[in-house]
Amino acid sequence: MERENFGSKLGVVLAAAGSAVGLGNIWRFPVETGQNGGAAFIIVYILCIVLLGLPIMMSEFLIGRSTHSNTAGAYRKLAPGTPWKWVGRLGVLSGFVILSYYAVVAGWTAEYTVLAASNYFEGKTTVDFPRIFSELSANPWICTLWMLAFMVLTHVVVVRGVKSGIEKFSKVMMPALFVIILILVVCSVLQPGASKGVEFLLKPDFSKVDGSVILSAMGQAFFSLSLGLGCLCTYASYFGKDTNLAKTALNVSVIDTLVAIMAGFIIFPAVFSAGYELNSNDVGPSLIFITLPNVFQQAFGAVPMLAYVFAVMFYFLLVVAALTSTISMHEVVTAYVSEEFSMKRRKAAWIVTIACSVVGVFCALSFGPLSDVKLFGLSIFDFFDYVSSNIFLPVGGMFIAIFTGWYLNRKFVKDEITNGGTVRAPYFKAFIFVLRFVAPIAIGLILLNQLGVFAFL
Ligand code: TRP
Repeated sequence: MERENFGSKLGVVLAAAGSAVGLGNIWRFPVETGQNGGAAFIIVYILCIVLLGLPIMMSEFLIGRSTHSNTAGAYRKLAPGTPWKWVGRLGVLSGFVILSYYAVVAGWTAEYTVLAASNYFEGKTTVDFPRIFSELSANPWICTLWMLAFMVLTHVVVVRGVKSGIEKFSKVMMPALFVIILILVVCSVLQPGASKGVEFLLKPDFSKVDGSVILSAMGQAFFSLSLGLGCLCTYASYFGKDTNLAKTALNVSVIDTLVAIMAGFIIFPAVFSAGYELNSNDVGPSLIFITLPNVFQQAFGAVPMLAYVFAVMFYFLLVVAALTSTISMHEVVTAYVSEEFSMKRRKAAWIVTIACSVVGVFCALSFGPLSDVKLFGLSIFDFFDYVSSNIFLPVGGMFIAIFTGWYLNRKFVKDEITNGGTVRAPYFKAFIFVLRFVAPIAIGLILLNQLGVFAFL
């Protein structure tokens, strides 16, 4: 079967950035920043991106591009007859699981876009928003329908293939996303009282940095850069021979980090301007669904038009960002099914969409009718979220680092990174050192911590 490639360098960067930029940046990053002390957390986060994120992203890139295979096939080709293919399979499984629950949250953002657009939020106050959200998340029909709608949208783009589906969509949507973000940042920063939010993001207080802050920053870096499950490995399998892997990784990381920080600049100035205190309830996971819609009303209430436009644009932005990410997870599984079971792409995509939708229904119902069903004490949704992002991703990332650092031939790795000696890589020794020692040890620590082994940390 003839395999497609991305059509242009810009397309490569925007598609990979589309995967990275998602709910992780706009929803999870501000929550983590709020709960971990602001500016100091951001600095630790950036260090994690540079030290761990970049080298592991380059590893995923080189594994994918050198094999032109889905993530399980890639390990089979590079390490035939060894158990390494399980790293790829674990990635496919995590992609499947994350997509199933991510689509539920994405569905909420779509419902909020519709609510905002129909001016439902006007005149609502602090007491209304928690109710609006809990009613939505407990409503089996709305949650399921939006989840299915999101799966179908994702399916439609993936089925069209790499160049005319994923690349084209990212090329239109990513620039649109930047424009919306910039407008929102400017609006937010200009609010009265916003400077306290700006200060929170810019003035580090290092006394707040402890072990758990560092670990949260690392976890966030992985999730946000789409690392650990072979997402970027799969995308890299569509890169051309002349794609500069290090430069692409750098571009994607910079874009992803900028979007996350700008999301902070949208949210915190508005939150402070509305007079919120940063206690953990107001900046917890409900931040974008309970606190923020209220913030829009409080901060811009005097100019209802502004509150309206701000809310519609913000939720639409989330929908777009989520969609380019669900596409990338879907592609990981679709490429696997289609190539490993020699199936037409269209058929493989349907199987993935239907299977994820079935699992997605359970996630969608897990705040309503199925809220009493517990797996290891967690709801279905929380269980999937916990297992995939806290266990599968770091395990995947650790093995990717070990695979590139220890298993692969060093000359082969250098050839890939330098495109056969045509681009310089003065950092190569440091790169290998990080993959061999720094990354496995650091990630091992996150993992043990998350499993509660270091409760004392
Ligand atoms: N990075 C995306 C976000 O920030 C989510 C995502 C897409 C992801 N593909 C992934 C996370 C692969 C982990 C692994 O929302």
